[in-house]
Amino acid sequence: MTPYALIRPLLFALDAERAHELTLGLLATGDSLAFWPPSPPGANSVEVMGLQFPNRVGLAAGLDKNGTAIDGLSRLGFGFLEVGTVTPRPQPGNPKPRLFRLPEHEAIINRMGFNNAGIDALRERLAHVRYRGILGINIGKNFDTPIEKAVDDYLICLDKAYPLGSYITVNISSPNTKNLRQLQGASELDALLAALKSRQTELADRHGKYVPLALKIAPDLDPGQITNIADALRRHRIDAVIATNTTLGREGVESSPLATEAGGLSGSPLFEKSTTVIRSLAHALGGELPIIAAGGITSGERARAKLDAGAALVQIYSGLIYKGPQLVRDCIEATSA
Ligand SMILES: Cc1cc2nc3c(=O)[nH]c(=O)nc-3n(C[C@H](O)[C@H](O)[C@H](O)COP(=O)(O)O)c2cc1C
Repeated sequence: MTPYALIRPLLFALDAERAHELTLGLLATGDSLAFWPPSPPGANSVEVMGLQFPNRVGLAAGLDKNGTAIDGLSRLGFGFLEVGTVTPRPQPGNPKPRLFRLPEHEAIINRMGFNNAGIDALRERLAHVRYRGILGINIGKNFDTPIEKAVDDYLICLDKAYPLGSYITVNISSPNTKNLRQLQGASELDALLAALKSRQTELADRHGKYVPLALKIAPDLDPGQITNIADALRRHRIDAVIATNTTLGREGVESSPLATEAGGLSGSPLFEKSTTVIRSLAHALGGELPIIAAGGITSGERARAKLDAGAALVQIYSGLIYKGPQLVRDCIEATSA
């Protein structure tokens, strides 16, 4: 039995968001993980987006939105961490309750709505972080910024995140910010990526370093939409794509009384759907840019399956809630050459 198997019933006895805050608070001290053995040195190192990753397993966005637990999380052995989503201004997110566990399905439904302290607070926080590994910063738009002005919000965040991130993720796939997913449409995406690419070129010049851009997409896309997105990514020379965010679908959890809660579904039932997106993307991209997989990774075997479908790196979130930190090690082992 892993230590987490003992702790989990205590955490699951609490309201989901309360348990999340408590765990993040403990991780924030970093020292609470002193018992956790350090991760083995870098025999599994891999180059993706021009960056050297010590292993292929990362933390997905949304768990540490404000970067308060980076040092503690890094102790779990991740090859990279992604913080955010952050928005230009702080915002409280949706009313509670907004986070639900479906333990019989190893799933989560959330409608957090980008609750975060804003990009300036994240910058301040990052100034005090000891972690020197690969850090992705995931950026979004404020809920009250009209969708026609979304590009402005992404550019504000890109300017401020650029000097501090190893890569920047552009999140246009949260289901909990009204109309956000419209940005995946052909003309909207074209305009957004053109603006971001041109700003990235300016910033690379200004800061004397190239910081890659990744686009994070939804699993709820038909094959035609996936082809359009792949074409846009290649045309605008975006550095990577993260597939996928949570789903609006409820396949596999229909029997749960919580299935009717609004929000995005993640965890085990998302696995097949998001892996199918990876396969289509891999085909459409022809290896031109790397895919980072997220969605339903609850075992080392499933992490491996994402690589087999065409991904270069994987990220986990919900699996961590159900399986605990041992999952990081299992995934590293299963995705090492
Ligand atoms: C509670 C919760 C909050 C999330 N918040 C974000 C977020 O702020 N930004 C983002 O890009 N993805 C967010 N995600 C999506 C995850 O990063 C990931 O893409 C998705 O959950 C699928 O992976 P999983 O099945 O391993 O959880 C969130 C997921 C959960 C469960």
